Amino acid sequence: TAAEKGGYEHFMLKEIHEQPKAIRDTLTGRISEDGERVILKELNWTPEQAGAIDRIHIVACGTSWHAGLVGKTVIEKLTRIPVDVEIASEYRYRDPIVSENTLVIVISQSGETLDTLTALRESKQRGVRVLAITNVLGSSVNREADNTIITMAGPEIAVASTKAYTTQVIALYLFACYLAQERGSEGAHQIPDILAGLKGLPELAQKVLQTAPAIEQFARKYADKEDAFFIGRGLDYAVALEGSLKLKEISYIHAEAYAAGELKHGTLALITEGVPVIALVTQDELYEKTVSNIVEVKARDAYVLALTWQGDTAIQKNADEVITIPRTLPFLAPVLAVIPLQLLAYYASVARGNDVDKPRNLAKSVTVE
Ligand code: G6P
Repeated sequence: TAAEKGGYEHFMLKEIHEQPKAIRDTLTGRISEDGERVILKELNWTPEQAGAIDRIHIVACGTSWHAGLVGKTVIEKLTRIPVDVEIASEYRYRDPIVSENTLVIVISQSGETLDTLTALRESKQRGVRVLAITNVLGSSVNREADNTIITMAGPEIAVASTKAYTTQVIALYLFACYLAQERGSEGAHQIPDILAGLKGLPELAQKVLQTAPAIEQFARKYADKEDAFFIGRGLDYAVALEGSLKLKEISYIHAEAYAAGELKHGTLALITEGVPVIALVTQDELYEKTVSNIVEVKARDAYVLALTWQGDTAIQKNADEVITIPRTLPFLAPVLAVIPLQLLAYYASVARGNDVDKPRNLAKSVTVE
């Protein structure tokens, strides 16, 4: 009903706007008062347990898998533990190499996705410790995992996941900091800065929501296109994958995400006049590299929407349109950068007259194989 949608036209739009609160709620109680330490009472690992982990497998489906891709970079950077991110329906059938020192992290908004749950059960049978990140207290994944970090997104109704994704990513930042802290990793000195950055995100996410009118305009202009490309490097590539999935799911526009440097190995052949390319440029160390890829697609007359930091005026030379997000650590950019992409998918879906909250052929939670 209209009341349930809190005045928004669709659940998805409501949930996009709930992200500042969802992020804040997921952080609440998990950062020490002095801002120096992560508190994850739900883990309570001994330093020995935390120290013994020598390999991590993140297992999930769909949008949760995309959150896992961000998690890999974040955990590896802070702890230097090798992390593999796997699609649950692949992982469960491929006899993964694990030992008693492996940690499996399953990520599932619903906590009921069958492939993810099966991967969890099989990991436990192999004697592997399983940490769940889920939005639903009391879900199967929550009940069966050794430990759970609950994301505090609140109920997510729209099939296309938005606030669950951002809170999963927040949970992964917290976990990465926790692990580095308990292991005394070299990366642990960055924890206070990261925690300060995390605390700032709800307010910044609120600001990013103000890009909605500009995004809506762009979405209307391009709603009749049949293809779109998302490019980025590093964490921007992980976010590009999520942006592309969002657009496919609800607007039915064929979209592809490409690691920007990989374009020239095939996909560049598809870039012709007027093809929309959404380029993410939030990873400062890779800025020049991604800009060179923007120049490549512009040379083929693509229409480029660049997503960059506020204050980046140089990008205007190369992009047709620019959407900005307020400054935070590049490491935390995914949480902000995904929001305009969610809005883009939303407005494209609305412009095409689709059933935004219930896209064709898809289900919120896939509890069958
Ligand atoms: C379905 C939903 C996706 C979701 C995926 C995994 O396909 O449509 O939005 O990302 O399942 O769901 P989970 O509840 O395990 O995160």
